[in-house]
Amino acid sequence: MTLLEKTRQFEKENQAPVKEQPAFHAAPAVGWMNDPNGFSWYDGQYHLFYQYCPNKMKWGPMHWGHQVSDDLVVWKRKPCVMAPENSFDYDGCFSGTAIETDQGHLLIYTGVTGSYQNQCIALGDGLTYKKFEGNPVIKGDQLPDGCSHEDFRDPKIWKEKDTYYCIIGNMRQDKHGQIVMFTSKNLTDWKYEGILYEMPRAEKNMLECPGFFRMDGIPVLITSPQNMHADGKEFHNGHNSVYLLGKKDTLDFSGATMHSIDYGLDFYAPETTIAPDGREILIGWMASWHGTQMTKEQTWTTQMTFPRELSLEEDMLIQKPVAEIENYYLDTIKYSGKVIEGEVELPEVKGRFFDMGVHFNCQGFKKFTIELAKNERFKTTFTISNKKKQILLDRTYSGMLEDHNCIRKVPFTEEITDLRILMDQYGIEIFVNGGKMVFSLILTTPISAEGIAFKSKKAADIDVTFHTIDTASIYRKREAEGTLQ
Ligand code: FRU
Repeated sequence: MTLLEKTRQFEKENQAPVKEQPAFHAAPAVGWMNDPNGFSWYDGQYHLFYQYCPNKMKWGPMHWGHQVSDDLVVWKRKPCVMAPENSFDYDGCFSGTAIETDQGHLLIYTGVTGSYQNQCIALGDGLTYKKFEGNPVIKGDQLPDGCSHEDFRDPKIWKEKDTYYCIIGNMRQDKHGQIVMFTSKNLTDWKYEGILYEMPRAEKNMLECPGFFRMDGIPVLITSPQNMHADGKEFHNGHNSVYLLGKKDTLDFSGATMHSIDYGLDFYAPETTIAPDGREILIGWMASWHGTQMTKEQTWTTQMTFPRELSLEEDMLIQKPVAEIENYYLDTIKYSGKVIEGEVELPEVKGRFFDMGVHFNCQGFKKFTIELAKNERFKTTFTISNKKKQILLDRTYSGMLEDHNCIRKVPFTEEITDLRILMDQYGIEIFVNGGKMVFSLILTTPISAEGIAFKSKKAADIDVTFHTIDTASIYRKREAEGTLQ
């Protein structure tokens, strides 16, 4: 039996009951998951692959797990597609991306062998994939002198006219993180083109998981730099995920400013893809390398974010949950002009699976808090302090086993008028002011804690729109079509 066959057997026999997982966020059937990989539309479905170590609850030999979705909401399990078992990847099939080609669905990934990282390809039909025998197709020794062959990973592929482009994260011996670029006409012969972007400071920021797309001609680069220092409201997460906007109709990112993609506690290594209707969609790993949160009962760990539709507004990346979630609204409860003074719970506004909008009709409040997943023992709080001009996220009392990495304080400048909160079991994503800032985090609070409270020091006038999610129909579909057979 090959390692891939053994892995498929293992995941089939050990898969967690679907109902013990988030409803509309992708999570691994069993064991460990990190970065999204090969997020793409192919043969009538969205495909999401991911870094996967099924037989451990922590990072280990990296496989590529696989799930598919028709609508970005209902994620269905598919058998693992790649295991680290070939001469060019026996120490890991690390992160990468996918593209549709004339010959099928192509995956490009980093094959790890000892202290070498090279780029490899595999071709498939959306279910099974065959690694190219001539792998690796891009080798560290194609890089100029002074570039690490050990930190050379996470290829992002795309095509413009008749040329394939591939950008890859890399580190230089002078400790500058950089993203290098290669081109190819045939996917197997690649030419080094140069450095697409380099970090301004030599601070050992390996630029992991680069991504690239254009929006109205503006080139957008995303990447996840390791080991960053916080700077104002930016980069509080140590290993961060950022975006940069280049000059229109070029590949020029010189002088571009980095901004965090997500300001929460759990977010890393996002990838994007284009939906058939042209939307640019982002999905990230909703976890952090500084500690992955899970309950004592879980046999699987970590999840992805809910897919987010991207747009640009005044040089800012805007993220909104994809509209498909609206097809799963069950009940809608609305309150308008509700005055919050002290602590208020609104009838029927409670639960762990919802999409809630909060609009502030005035800015007279000093400090406004929403408590989520609350009961007499637990709560997770999101506080807007208009006085300090600061957002405070606090999961100290969310049932965490360790009291660290629980608090995030982020300054803001523009007044906060709207929140949209997506909650799915143990995951929360908070979209501020129509998606100008997003805060993602995981809790381990028992599922029975489903209270939601609003608190304000001075009267706050708010509208609330609360949609419960039809989890029963999502789980039913996932059980029927997404169980590993
Ligand atoms: C990012 C990362 C990638 C690497 C993968 C390994 O989280 O470190 O750079 O390819 O995870 O699992």
